[in-house]
Amino acid sequence: MPIKAPKGTRDILPEDIYQWNFVEEKFANLCKRFGYKEIRIPVFEHTELFQRGVGDTTDIVQKEMYTFLDKGGRSISLRPEGTAGVVRSFIEHGMSSLPQPVKLFYQITAYRYENVQKGRYREFNQFGAELLGASDPAADVEIITLLALFFQDLGIKNLELNLNSIGCPKCRGEYNKKLRAYLESKIEGMCDTCKDRFHRNPLRILDCKEETCKSIVKDAPALLDNICDECRDHFKKVTDKLNAIGIIYNIDKGIVRGLDYYTKTVFEFVSRNIGSQGTVCGGGRYDGLVEECGGPPTPGIGFALGVERLLLEMQNQGIEIPKPEAPDIYIGAIGEKAELVSERLAWQLRQHNITCIKDIMGRSVKAQMKYADKIGANYVLILGDDEIETNKAKLKDMRTGDTKDITLDTLIDRLIKNKA
Ligand code: HAM
Repeated sequence: MPIKAPKGTRDILPEDIYQWNFVEEKFANLCKRFGYKEIRIPVFEHTELFQRGVGDTTDIVQKEMYTFLDKGGRSISLRPEGTAGVVRSFIEHGMSSLPQPVKLFYQITAYRYENVQKGRYREFNQFGAELLGASDPAADVEIITLLALFFQDLGIKNLELNLNSIGCPKCRGEYNKKLRAYLESKIEGMCDTCKDRFHRNPLRILDCKEETCKSIVKDAPALLDNICDECRDHFKKVTDKLNAIGIIYNIDKGIVRGLDYYTKTVFEFVSRNIGSQGTVCGGGRYDGLVEECGGPPTPGIGFALGVERLLLEMQNQGIEIPKPEAPDIYIGAIGEKAELVSERLAWQLRQHNITCIKDIMGRSVKAQMKYADKIGANYVLILGDDEIETNKAKLKDMRTGDTKDITLDTLIDRLIKNKA
């Protein structure tokens, strides 16, 4: 039996890769336009980083991480997301002594042991950005506008931006008391994980996917109604700025996000088209995370966007991604002398940035023409003894079917001119 890819992983095949390259380039260029620099972080980290950063009462850490002991007996986990790794790197490389804020973007794979369905995989791709060192609401707005512009640049319409504030540790403490009081009489009906969360971190119960827990928290007091004046003021400034720009949003008191590091602003961009996995992007502020991971007190905000979901959404909205250019020329050769000349020509053409495919199979002229047609080459040139002797050949334009007699020495100039 041939071995198949593990459940929840997918190959991105050569015929689809242009779509990925297209959005990757757009995202990188846009981030640079906002002054963000690329960072690359490891695929695996010490498990403790995610326990501390993402939070050990979250579904991600409790149920979904790929964790193993390495040969040195260390507990290692594949990254379930990028923020914790970026923050670890920020601390490890002393980035707090750089001019602030520090603006970073990344394009990563991430790993979560989840129930697989359309738009939800075990290995998936994220585009993300982290803005460290800025506590002002203007930073929240910069992150949100970067995303809004990204979707606009790609021609994606109708993604809903849902916003909430989940306050700071100060107001959260007060809120947790209220939430516990509300939930106390209902503990017996909760799943085992939430029974534990009730004591350790009741806010997490609001994010539980179990139906029984969902129905229990339906009428729980909302965090947004219980935040302190400073958090309320911050949130108002964010919404005022979004209003001034004309970015449309909904306030959704139900967003708590599935990671523990968030404070104040949290947001999601949601599609109505993809179904249950409609959250294309999520993010928020995490003012305590750098300190939690052992660094100096540093505010932060960021987001991550699911690239598979982004591409699904583009497909659903009928957005066409430009296909890669066809090869400029296919060069075939019959006979040893012609073969040597075709090697030299191909070398020269490629040096001049012309996409040239040459025969390397020693096939018949007919088979070579068929192959040139299949790969969609714009021009075909077949060399034989006659062509080498006269230094002339027939250049066939495969799009029109026209054939032109050319001298071999003019081929490069001609193709460069055609390309321009
Ligand atoms: P997240 O909400 O866990 O946030 O993930 C961000 C996005 O990644 C989701 O909105 C979704 O599009 C995509 N995603 C998550 N899990 C899967 C999956 N199993 N399959 C396919 N796509 C998935 C974070 O990861 C935070 N680090 C975001 C952040 C950055 N907050 C601040 N900075």
